[in-house]
Amino acid sequence: MVRFTGGVELFEERRKLIGQILIEQVKKFFISDADRDFYAKIFPGSVDPESLKRIRKMETADIDAVFALEQTVYKYPWTRGILVDCMVVPGYFCWVCENEHDVFGYAILAIGIDEAHIMNLCVSPDAQGGGWGARLLDQIIAIAREKKIVDTLLLEVRKTNKPAIALYKKYGFKKIGERKAYYPSEHGREDAVMYALPVS
Ligand SMILES: CC(C)(COP(=O)(O)OP(=O)(O)OC[C@H]1O[C@@H](n2cnc3c(N)ncnc32)[C@H](O)[C@@H]1OP(=O)(O)O)[C@@H](O)C(=O)NCCC(=O)NCCS
Repeated sequence: MVRFTGGVELFEERRKLIGQILIEQVKKFFISDADRDFYAKIFPGSVDPESLKRIRKMETADIDAVFALEQTVYKYPWTRGILVDCMVVPGYFCWVCENEHDVFGYAILAIGIDEAHIMNLCVSPDAQGGGWGARLLDQIIAIAREKKIVDTLLLEVRKTNKPAIALYKKYGFKKIGERKAYYPSEHGREDAVMYALPVS
């Protein structure tokens, strides 16, 4: 049996805290994403903002936010037109990560016969290091595995992009080649390194 010390006020506070903890536990089990959104709108502060972060399919309404992020993150960003094409061309799969207010990451995968290609994987600078790049990559790999026509997941990355290369290596991607002078850069052109991961 729990012995409460410290008088009626402290007892009340503990009772409230225990109540809140119990409610949190129940919420974790029973509240869907839609419910979380509802609670967050109606009772701001009642829902942990971390629990509102999620990955979902990119929609056309996300294009402006994704394009803004693309321009923030990359020195040589894609055009808006490329992003729009990715959304409409068959075989392309696009996802975003979002929090309560903003899109803070995205990934684009092109699926063909035998091979799938990671076209883009990007997390906003202030969200980097929080595991969302890895979660987006999990999503990409899961879809590539689900499509039985794909044997290999491919990508190119700038030779100097250490965080991205570390991420791909962590997931077991192996270097399969280089493309000389593939990317524009401040010092002329930069090589791309090609990586592959078997997924069949
Ligand atoms: C590459 C990128 C998507 C990683 O996303 P992220 O959310 O920051 O990465 P995560 O927090 O999920 O980290 C997962 C793994 O990536 C690697 N990694 C991420 N950031 C790293 C860094 N700054 N230095 C070294 N390794 C890093 C680590 O292996 C890490 O695993 P660990 O936490 O167990 O060490 C992100 O840095 C980014 O958007 N960069 C700019 C856009 C870009 O270059 N995209 C790749 C194009 S090919």
